[in-house]
Amino acid sequence: MARATIFALSALPIVLGLELPGGVGRLPALGWNSWNAYYCDVDQDKIMLAANAMVDLGFKDAGYEYVILDDCWSEMDGRDPVTSRLVPNATKFPDLMVGTAAKVHDLGLKYGMYSSAGTMTCGRYPGSLGYEHIDAATFAEWGIDYLKYDNCFPPEEWIDDCFACNGDPSFDKIGKVNGSCTAETPPTPYYSWNNTSPHCAYEWPVDNVNYTAKYTALKYRIMREALLDQNRTILFSLCEWGVDQPHRWANSTGNSWRSTNDINPSWSRILEILNVNSFLGDYTDFWGRNDPDMLEVGQGNLTVEEERSHFGLWAMMKGPLLMGTDLTKLIPEQIAILQNKYLLAFNQDPLVGRPAKPYRWGVNPDYTFNSTFPAQYWSGPSSNGTLVALFNPTNDTQTMTALYSEVPELDAVGCYDVVDVWSGKDLGCKEESVDVDVAPHDTAVFLFGAECT
Ligand SMILES: *[C@@H]1O[C@H](CO)[C@@H](O)[C@H](O)[C@H]1NC(C)=O
Ligand SMILES: *[C@@H]1O[C@H](CO)[C@@H](O)[C@H](O)[C@H]1NC(C)=O
Ligand SMILES: *[C@@H]1O[C@H](CO)[C@@H](O)[C@H](O)[C@H]1NC(C)=O
Ligand SMILES: *[C@@H]1O[C@H](CO)[C@@H](O)[C@H](O)[C@H]1NC(C)=O
Ligand SMILES: *[C@@H]1O[C@H](CO)[C@@H](O)[C@H](O)[C@H]1NC(C)=O
Ligand SMILES: *[C@@H]1O[C@H](CO)[C@@H](O)[C@H](O)[C@H]1NC(C)=O
Ligand SMILES: *[C@@H]1O[C@H](CO)[C@@H](O)[C@H](O)[C@H]1NC(C)=O
Ligand SMILES: *[C@@H]1O[C@H](CO)[C@@H](O)[C@H](O)[C@H]1NC(C)=O
Ligand SMILES: *[C@@H]1O[C@H](CO)[C@@H](O)[C@H](O)[C@H]1NC(C)=O
Ligand SMILES: *[C@@H]1O[C@H](CO)[C@@H](O)[C@H](O)[C@H]1NC(C)=O
Repeated sequence: MARATIFALSALPIVLGLELPGGVGRLPALGWNSWNAYYCDVDQDKIMLAANAMVDLGFKDAGYEYVILDDCWSEMDGRDPVTSRLVPNATKFPDLMVGTAAKVHDLGLKYGMYSSAGTMTCGRYPGSLGYEHIDAATFAEWGIDYLKYDNCFPPEEWIDDCFACNGDPSFDKIGKVNGSCTAETPPTPYYSWNNTSPHCAYEWPVDNVNYTAKYTALKYRIMREALLDQNRTILFSLCEWGVDQPHRWANSTGNSWRSTNDINPSWSRILEILNVNSFLGDYTDFWGRNDPDMLEVGQGNLTVEEERSHFGLWAMMKGPLLMGTDLTKLIPEQIAILQNKYLLAFNQDPLVGRPAKPYRWGVNPDYTFNSTFPAQYWSGPSSNGTLVALFNPTNDTQTMTALYSEVPELDAVGCYDVVDVWSGKDLGCKEESVDVDVAPHDTAVFLFGAECT
């Protein structure tokens, strides 16, 4: 049964990108997701608290659109015995999903949900593997606009024979060979590739694995087909943590794919993710985006400088921007960060699909894979000029320089009108370079607009 499906689907022509009607999925999704704020302790009141706050606090006007319910929403003990459908937990969601979706839609927002390409979700609720068409039809009937599709609990027969690994010779090939494990667990992190090669992240791992042919990619193609079979436009967001090189195949499968490990509200994890994603910029463009995971602004003990760097660089990498906190507890500085009009406009540029990329690493030589000192100098083109970010990962204030001769988009001998993106202040016409003192863990961002004299 599963085998037949495999052959039928792998014969499908591969489309370039998942181009959905109405431009859905063309630009990075903006919104809120329940996970970082509530984990499994989620219910209808919390979803509506977030949805109403999105409107009341100006997030909707700033462009935020999706309200996404993550894991732990269904009944835990199984599907409906007659219809095989997933059953919302009516204690947590008294209006069920139809009612919750309708309430979110009434606010002029879109509604998203979550499932997993396994027997269970990560929180051990029923998963969608083998039920893709039933679940896609159910989601469509309930009125959802977005599906986050996780990768927990694939059964044995859906795990690939070969688990490809990193360049470390001791982990050259691990995983399952004819069903028996040659190593118990994959190495952590997955990303410790040859960090002396300038192209390591693009070429990793050089091990003759065709990731497009792997079961993981196939499981996501099956759900894509199930969603496309519905008479409803549903943005498809892949979450397999970057393990199977989704940047190589997922443009034709979904509108975004997680490219890294899970985020948490710690500065070290944010740096680790920034470092991994900094090597993948060539794979983000219209319709398909690397997703460095959701925002932690408002969570944990991040400083305002750290929150600026996190949001600013996430916006410039042009992944989805999904807030993940109790929005009603945000302080004005955090709201201002999340609603920064220059960064949101860059992220949502209708004419330029590519993200900002590093043009210089800083403390370390260019292309160094290092989670303590990721790339520090970033730039990218936009409809209104070039955005440049100067990121200071050190614990001391540093004077950093945007030197025009180093920024690929700028003319070394040009003069530009410069705006400080955080304050909105016009710095006037600047020639050759712009210097700025950047506080520890902060990021200065400048918009280089029209040429001037
Ligand atoms: C993904 O596909 C779209 C077309 O559907 C294309 O515009 C975009 O450039 C592709 N992304 C990459 C990184 O090639
Ligand atoms: C529904 O959620 C409530 C509240 O969290 C919980 O006590 C109950 O066990 C859940 N029911 C099922 C069937 O999962
Ligand atoms: C795996 O199974 C195939 C077919 O039975 C056999 O030819 C091959 O040698 C096996 N490989 C290993 C590593 O055991
Ligand atoms: C890492 O990459 C560099 C440059 O491509 C190469 O010279 C070197 O041999 C590689 N090291 C390992 C351990 O594979
Ligand atoms: C990789 O697998 C895909 C899907 O089966 C196939 O279309 C493609 O030709 C394969 N690529 C290579 C280089 O073998
Ligand atoms: C598809 O959905 C649209 C909009 O809701 C509706 O007008 C149309 O009748 C539906 N088509 C089918 C075949 O159900
Ligand atoms: C934040 O700091 C407080 C006090 O130092 C600590 O108790 C708490 O665990 C920290 N929270 C996180 C998410 O790190
Ligand atoms: C460009 O500027 C216009 C006018 O201020 C603004 O509406 C638009 O969002 C900006 N676009 C980008 C990509 O900065
Ligand atoms: C990361 O870079 C710093 C600065 O060069 C260096 O001290 C540190 O050892 C590097 N970390 C790793 C894991 O290579
Ligand atoms: C910054 O300070 C923290 C706390 O003292 C320390 O753990 C960290 O290693 C320092 N980071 C750098 C880049 O020096």
